[in-house]
Amino acid sequence: MENFVAYNPTKLHFGKDVTDTLGKAIEKFGKRVLLVYGGGSIKNNGIYDKIISQLKSIDAGIFKYHGIKPNPVYEDVDVAAKLGRDNNVDVILAVGGGSVIDSAKIISITIPVENSSWDFYKGKTEPKSAIPLISVLTLAATGTEMNPFAVLQNDKTKQKLGWGNKLLFNKHSFLDPRFTFSVPYNQTAYGIVDLIAHCLEAYFGEGEATLSDRFVFSIIKEAIEYGPKLLDNPDNYELRAKIMYAATAALNGLTFNGRKSGDWGVHSIGHELSLLYDIPHGASLSIAYPAWMKYSSNIIPERVIELGKNIFNTDTTEKTISAFESFFKSLDCPVRCPEIGIGEDKKPEIIKNMTANNVSGANLKMTEEDHIKIVELFF
Ligand code: NZQ
Ligand code: ZN
Repeated sequence: MENFVAYNPTKLHFGKDVTDTLGKAIEKFGKRVLLVYGGGSIKNNGIYDKIISQLKSIDAGIFKYHGIKPNPVYEDVDVAAKLGRDNNVDVILAVGGGSVIDSAKIISITIPVENSSWDFYKGKTEPKSAIPLISVLTLAATGTEMNPFAVLQNDKTKQKLGWGNKLLFNKHSFLDPRFTFSVPYNQTAYGIVDLIAHCLEAYFGEGEATLSDRFVFSIIKEAIEYGPKLLDNPDNYELRAKIMYAATAALNGLTFNGRKSGDWGVHSIGHELSLLYDIPHGASLSIAYPAWMKYSSNIIPERVIELGKNIFNTDTTEKTISAFESFFKSLDCPVRCPEIGIGEDKKPEIIKNMTANNVSGANLKMTEEDHIKIVELFF
């Protein structure tokens, strides 16, 4: 086992009606609130009204920034940060999925500086402080509610990058599984793929950590057992709760303890597909993971076999990969590019962008030759 430091200061409020105490939590940081949300789902499902009534209960001054896009772009973050800075906000309230919360994380560190938010991603500046951030999660998938990471996109430079800093932890995260009842079938399925992918990124990371491996197996088994049931029963509280907690546990540090790093190669590949063709994060992963595992099973066959043995009771790399692929297909998630409208003619473009962005894992390195082989497996 590798040395590790476990640090997670986010206070997680999980369950029915937890947002009843949202106002009180906000008030501790102040009353001038920057409310950040996405394209309007929270208005359709009634969450917005609940949030506003909490803010009114503390006489908050509300400054709104909405329209954060799925696969969020740094320009929105810059505009929202200016709004927050000009109005001297005390606290940020993010209400939404990973795209909204990731954007709010970067808004929180951009407000105190004059730089563009993208400068953090390019290492041009370091964050100095953060405006306190409180989130209400509406989609179970990314784990952003309890981790220090945020992913942003830059369409001009054709980059989608993940970045982490301890200042990005939420002060509080509120998770009411009923807030995810309205998540459509496809986004629910992508969330299940994403949480499994986070477990796998940990598992294929560097360093031997048997207990962390067992956490990985348990979380994936939870997703495989209850994910399909949830898709058949989207208004079932217990099933929503199980998947929501699994998604948080998949990327809050638990599965990484005792390792030097995760791998994250598949996420880097997936980000290229999202960036080039604007496809949802989970859909990029259901295509990229089987392809990457086929390519890596020549390098680390015993790791793939051990995974399969523990999850599916399989005994070969082929059977393990095929079991993952069948599971993703059973959720109606794409496992090949044409299923999501990306034709073979796009191969050179994908490879070119992967190579230009030095797509690689932290543990299993990839070169242009590997990019070519992996992209072949997308079709
Ligand atoms: O924009 P709105 O109207 O809110 O609609 C969203 C969006 O269209 C909708 N939605 C969210 N909650 C809903 C809902 N629709 C109905 N009912 C609800 N309760 O779902 C759509 C997708 O939302 P988005 O936030 O984009 O999805 P997700 O949570 O999967 O986040 C994806 C982003 O997170 C990044 C991804 O790369 C991607 O940019 N990730 C962040 C990570 C992190 N910070 O740790 C790790 C992940 O690996 C991932 O990379
Ligand atoms: Zn992910």
